[in-house]
Amino acid sequence: MNLDIPLSVPFRHRVTFTRGVFDAANATLRSVLASDDGLERRLVAFVDSNVLAANPGIPDRIRAYAAAHPAMPAVCLVESIAGGEQAKRSMSVVDRVVEAVDEHRIDRQSFVLAIGGGAVLDAVGFGAAIAHRGVRLVRMPTTTLGQDDAGMAVKNGINLGHKKNFIGSFAVPHAVVCDQDLLTTSPDWSWCGGFSEAVKIALLRDPELFARIERDAAAIRARDMAAAMPVIARSAELHWRHIALGGDPFETQSARPLDFGHWLAHRLEGMSDGELPHGQAVAIGVAVDTAYSACAGLLDEGVADRVIRVLRELGLPTTHEFLADSGAVMAGLEEFREHLGGQLTITLLRGIGSPVDVHAMDAAMLKRALALTSRAS
Ligand SMILES: NC(=O)c1ccc[n+]([C@@H]2O[C@H](COP(=O)([O-])OP(=O)(O)OC[C@H]3O[C@@H](n4cnc5c(N)ncnc54)[C@H](O)[C@@H]3O)[C@@H](O)[C@H]2O)c1
Ligand SMILES: [Zn+2]
Repeated sequence: MNLDIPLSVPFRHRVTFTRGVFDAANATLRSVLASDDGLERRLVAFVDSNVLAANPGIPDRIRAYAAAHPAMPAVCLVESIAGGEQAKRSMSVVDRVVEAVDEHRIDRQSFVLAIGGGAVLDAVGFGAAIAHRGVRLVRMPTTTLGQDDAGMAVKNGINLGHKKNFIGSFAVPHAVVCDQDLLTTSPDWSWCGGFSEAVKIALLRDPELFARIERDAAAIRARDMAAAMPVIARSAELHWRHIALGGDPFETQSARPLDFGHWLAHRLEGMSDGELPHGQAVAIGVAVDTAYSACAGLLDEGVADRVIRVLRELGLPTTHEFLADSGAVMAGLEEFREHLGGQLTITLLRGIGSPVDVHAMDAAMLKRALALTSRAS
């Protein structure tokens, strides 16, 4: 017997940008959590410890919000999760989420709410994806990187040793809710870091967005919300579009993940043992791959200079001491190929909004690119 049929499973990928998400008058959470079938739903919430330290009222506000609206799930638990990359360094957060799902009888129609930076969302999300083979996850990103990129993803994961995101799954969240007010307490380095992903996606997809970032870089760095939010929202929308409409959300076929600059970013993160944050690593990766594009004769050198200048104006690094060991850096190419599977594919630029894929990188050319990105402006 030979049974063979293509399977397609419909998903919704819902993202909302709002303010004052726990205010009783805000309908966003009600619309994603309340149900009208009269069945009891339950909710456990996990909050990034640094978000909680800066916003100690969150547990009370979640409970008050649930009490103020009809047909909301019962709030069984609001627990702190140690924030930052340490959440992804072991199985302990994942184990804790699985345990809480069991303890509080969270079934497949009940909810895990994750509030925090991308690391906490990734670790809690993996726990929610494997308990009962997947319970409903509502993600609430609290960093610029979480709101303009990571929160839009339909995947989760933790690290294995130096290998970023080695263990994880693809899972579409029940909903993603971004509250700009939650960004205000994030640390400065994290604030700046998230804009590397906005620069990345602008370079791949949207020359107008790049022009806006170039114009407003100083205001964005100074945390002017009026300058920052349109960039965050547009970047989120472009990432969302790629995932929701790109035809390959689980990255099994030809639709490439939006990983410009990421082969080097992942390598640097690994070499620094997680000390270098993702956003800063991406800024360096984007700078180097842009400079490499110019060295390879694909991109005008003046354009490459503009990209490097914008990254610096945003308060982001474009070089790192680890880049001195170009052999160790080159090893990142094979690691990257292995993670994605198949042939090595690196995205370079022909112009802003005009990406091109190549299948090899030249060591001598890379050295020249590294020299360009470390040149003083
Ligand atoms: N799932 C995906 O597709 C995807 C995509 C991109 C990145 N990521 C992952 O996201 C992670 C990076 O996320 P990140 O940049 O948000 O960093 P992060 O999660 O490490 O958060 C940065 C720091 O800020 C703290 N913090 C977060 N929000 C805060 C707030 N509002 N107030 C006070 N403190 C706050 C955190 O506790 C942490 O110490 C990486 O692990 C990366 O691999 C995942
Ligand atoms: Zn990234």
